[in-house]
Amino acid sequence: DKGNHRHFMAKEIAEQPETVSHTLAHYIDLSNETVSLRESLPFDFAELSRLTITACGTAYYAGLVAKYWFERYARLAVDVDVASEFRYREPPLAENGLTLVISQSGETADTLAALRYSAREGQHIAALVNVQESTIARESHVVFPTLCGPEIGVASTKAFTAQLTALASLVIAAGEARGVLSASRAHELVRALIELPSAISEALRHEKSIEGLARQLARASDVLYLGRGQMFPLALEGALKLKEISYIHAEGYAAGELKHGPIALVNEEMPVVVVAPSDELMEKTLSNMHEVAARGGKIILITDAEGVAEAGDGISDIIEMPRVHPFVAPILASIPVQLLAYHTAVFMGTDVDQPRNLAKSVTVE
Ligand code: M6R
Repeated sequence: DKGNHRHFMAKEIAEQPETVSHTLAHYIDLSNETVSLRESLPFDFAELSRLTITACGTAYYAGLVAKYWFERYARLAVDVDVASEFRYREPPLAENGLTLVISQSGETADTLAALRYSAREGQHIAALVNVQESTIARESHVVFPTLCGPEIGVASTKAFTAQLTALASLVIAAGEARGVLSASRAHELVRALIELPSAISEALRHEKSIEGLARQLARASDVLYLGRGQMFPLALEGALKLKEISYIHAEGYAAGELKHGPIALVNEEMPVVVVAPSDELMEKTLSNMHEVAARGGKIILITDAEGVAEAGDGISDIIEMPRVHPFVAPILASIPVQLLAYHTAVFMGTDVDQPRNLAKSVTVE
């Protein structure tokens, strides 16, 4: 049931304050404001040699964000790869390593094959899934749920933010177990997560102005998305969302790679979406943005009040998000990139919930 929404995707975007809360309630002890995992772990975060994350599509991008987090907050070495590559690479896997597969459906063929390969290689296997009765869940040693309810739209939205929410919680648990996060630092990160649902509600209130920017995107034939650090995967996710539902060609790039090639594409016809909320890398991303603007590129900047002040005059199309702790900023930035893609697709008149050539669950390779 779409309720009073035009599409399932619109409903699923709008639900995210609740779905993120719901997922958080599973991982966080809200009275003590600590992470408290209900799953008993068949491994010890403190002893893990390496973490391997494998998944497809949007779930892969959630894994990419998690890599930045696990490395920074838990000092755990992480490899991330798309499952279709991982399974045939047959990578050597370290002893006492953990493979974490991420899948909304729990039925994606390549992800399942990557899981089976890792199991044969003697890895601990953890799954982060939305469908708890799925094959991937059944074949894993421990299952972490995303509790966002059924996702109907082919374009993944609420599953992505639920995956990130669960991953963020696991990162805090790992950081504490590995002695990297002090109790007070862990508490600071938990607080950031607890405050996230209301920030998401606030972000959703910008829908009208995002719709206005989407009207411009709908006229473009190519769109570039840029982000740096933990915002790089959000640039990839923004580009994927746009291409799959609006059929507009889009690419996500690490902002620092711009001058190694893609800046040659920039002209007056090319919108460039820059994802840069305030963190220690924002200034670098904004300087890349100015390089694009100087060549006539049309910028759409996703940032917060501090970023607006930093960006200076001359950047008129800004989506201003509420200011949150940088740790959770990638989760919040999901909202504007989803809304931009959604409204662009609505202007284009595509079948938003059932885009051409795509299936919700890819059970063949
Ligand atoms: O069910 P899964 O999470 O394993 O699915 C993975 C991808 O097929 C999925 O995320 C796909 O990329 C979405 N259509 C993206 O919006």
